[in-house]
Order: sequence, then C-alpha cells, then structure tokens
Amino acid sequence: MKQQLEAIRADALAAFNAVDSAAALDALRVQYLGKKGELTAVLKQMGKLSAEERPVIGQLANDIRAELEKVLEEKSASIEAQALQQRLVEEKLDVTIPGKAPVIGHKHPMYIALDEIKDIFIGMGFTVLDGPEVEFAELNFDRLNAEEGHPSRDWSDTFYFDEDCRVMLRSQTSPMQVRAMDTMELPIRIIAPGRVYRKDEVDATHSPMFHQVEGMVIDKGVTMADLKGTLNTVVEQLYGKGTKTRFRPHHFPFTEPSCEMDVQCHKCGGVGCPTCKGEGWIELLGAGMIHPRVLEMAGIDPEVYSGWAFGIGLERTAMRRFKIADLRLIFENDIRFLEQF
Ligand code: PHE
Repeated sequence: MKQQLEAIRADALAAFNAVDSAAALDALRVQYLGKKGELTAVLKQMGKLSAEERPVIGQLANDIRAELEKVLEEKSASIEAQALQQRLVEEKLDVTIPGKAPVIGHKHPMYIALDEIKDIFIGMGFTVLDGPEVEFAELNFDRLNAEEGHPSRDWSDTFYFDEDCRVMLRSQTSPMQVRAMDTMELPIRIIAPGRVYRKDEVDATHSPMFHQVEGMVIDKGVTMADLKGTLNTVVEQLYGKGTKTRFRPHHFPFTEPSCEMDVQCHKCGGVGCPTCKGEGWIELLGAGMIHPRVLEMAGIDPEVYSGWAFGIGLERTAMRRFKIADLRLIFENDIRFLEQF
C-alpha cells in the first residue's frame, strides 16, 4: 500500500508539472485528490491493514495529500501569472505613438464669398431663393423683355435642350426675378444665387459655367438712389470701408435705366495695373431699375410699384476678395490651391 501511495505521488507530481492550463490542472485535482480520486480509493482499503500499519500509512497518505495540494496551489498561481503576462503582451497599447490626424475639408473660397454676401443681404431683410438651372426660355428671355431675335438668344451663345429653343440651361439668374414676382407677395426683397451657363471658351476670366447672385427689390417709391446706397453698403462690407465704386450707363433689356458697377482695383488703388488691365476699375455687376414692361408682364402696376435688380458675378467677387488671378483655379479643385483659404 505504501508503494501504491508513493506511485500516486510520483504520477501526480509529474502530471501537475506537465500541465499548462487552469482547466487541465483542475481535472488533475479531481483525478488525484477528489472524492472519487485515486488517493481516496487507496485510503478506502485502510481497513485491511493491521493496527500497527494503519497510523503509519495514514500519516503517509496525509503527508502526500498536503504535498500535492501545495504543489497544485503553486502551479495554479504560476499558470495565472503566465496568463496575465501573456495578456499584457498581447493587449499592449503604446500611447506614445503619434496619432493619424483626420483630413478635414473646408468651404470652397467661392462659397466663403457667397456666404458673406448672403449674410450681408439677410441682415438687410432679404430672402434667399433657390431656382432651377434648367429653365424655360420664356422666363430667361421673353418675360425679361428679350424677345425673339434678341442677340443673347442665339444658338451660339446658349445651351438649348430642344430644336424649338424653349428649354435651356439658364444663361443668367435673372429668371429668378420673374419666378419671385409670380409667386411672392409685394413688397419683394430677394437674392437668388446659383449656376449659369453660356457657350464661352475657357480662359483666365471665362468659363461656360459660372455663378451669379441675382438681387431684386420691388416696393412703392423705390428709386435708383436705393440701388446705389444698397450696393455701396454691400461693397464696403465685402471689401472694407471706403472702397470706391463707379456706376456706368449700360443696357439690359429688363432694366431701364441700366448700369454696370465697377469697384476700384484692389491691386493698384485705381492707378491702373495688369489686374485691372490698366483701367484702375474692375467690373463687378450689372444692375438697373426694373423695366415697366417686365413689371406689367408679371401683373404688377408700374404706376404704383417700382423696383431695382442686380446680378453679381460670384467668381469675380471671390477672385477680388481672395486676390486670385486666374478663374480656372477656382474650378480645378487642386487641393494645393484650395488649402490656402
Ligand atoms: N443678368 C444680367 C447679366 O447676366 C445682370 C443683371 C441682373 C443686370 C439684374 C441687371 C439687373 O449680365
């Protein structure tokens, strides 16, 4: 029996040693030390022993149990420590590694300029309208007093969708004047920014697609003085106090009288330089008092109401605002250019 016990001891110690997981170690505990384990099985046969042998074997069995329990405990602790060590290695997070900065975009310079213009007009009580880029020629031309045969209606200038020239890409934001007159209550104070299209070759100052901001006021007793006062205020807010403007007579079919407004060149201060082509002034917008016929066609009595309108070229405004020399840069989407704003 003594040999049996010694054999169990040796087996158990070897088995404990070989194991490397907590679950396997627990299985061994049951196998050797459990109620139905090998050690217990041997002890059950103690009755067969003589009275002198019993306490000796009993003592030996207790010693072996104590020893195995101790080794088991140590082994269990070392398995746990090893598992922890492994997790520490696997889950290591080096907080000193530099992070990857997310690339965040920002507003396009032209939309920065547009938002500034919107803010200024909203502050003066204007409503911002949005309208279709695919427009009826009736609204783009007829209702704006540019009848059949007007040079701007020519195929060579305008993108038409049909042989009859009834549907087109709008060549100006001015049809928004008509849409506003047709749908809004008087008095009207609106701006309408958006894309417009003309058959122009691309160069430093031209593009077949560009942006305008239309503006219009209709009320009783509105005069050219209101137009000039409003536009001068806008220019001073955009380009700084004291920025000089100049109004030149011009012709548009839907305004009478009509004018163009120039701003003093930001580069040379009016002396004349390459940026302003030696003029000292840069053309910024077209404007005028709304033609009585245009009001009449919209069912508004020109004897009671009067109004003015303007159309600003947005690219030109942004180019002046950010001192950009070539229009093409605005549309090329070169990040090295766009990042500067
Ligand atoms: N629509 C004109 C253009 O494209 C600008 C304009 C708008 C002129 C409103 C007068 C009044 O040139």
